[in-house]
Amino acid sequence: MKKKCLPADWPEKLTRAAKKALKNAHAPYSNFRVGAAILLSNGRIFSGCNVENASYGMTNCAERTAIFSAVAELGPKIEIRAVAVVNEQAVPCSPCGACRQVIYEFGPDAVIVFEGKSGTKQAHITELLPEGFRLL
Ligand code: THU
Repeated sequence: MKKKCLPADWPEKLTRAAKKALKNAHAPYSNFRVGAAILLSNGRIFSGCNVENASYGMTNCAERTAIFSAVAELGPKIEIRAVAVVNEQAVPCSPCGACRQVIYEFGPDAVIVFEGKSGTKQAHITELLPEGFRLL
């Protein structure tokens, strides 16, 4: 897939939005607070945090919170160009498998910035999720 040009300042801008969002995390069970921010092709930024639940499986990750907020506000035709994920401890944390699939649904050409083993990393969604699932 053809890679589109991203604004040079996007990683910093998105990371800042993600850091702000993690302050709202509801993570009393894991104490692992996560923030995410997504850049859409129309230039809009949406952010989200993880929202845990006493019934652990109901937990929503920061990335999906951000994406679902964007869909709720703008509808399903959004195109995700980039995603940034941060956590309070700044430990390695790439999007989980479920979030990769949800990112792929709306951003098959998205670039993801996350904390890797040796610092901040950028990866194309298809590197993180080869052969993502599609019905359409
Ligand atoms: N979590 C996220 O929000 N995003 C990720 O990319 C990885 C994991 C959350 C889910 C849960 O609330 C906590 O981190 C610990 O797994």
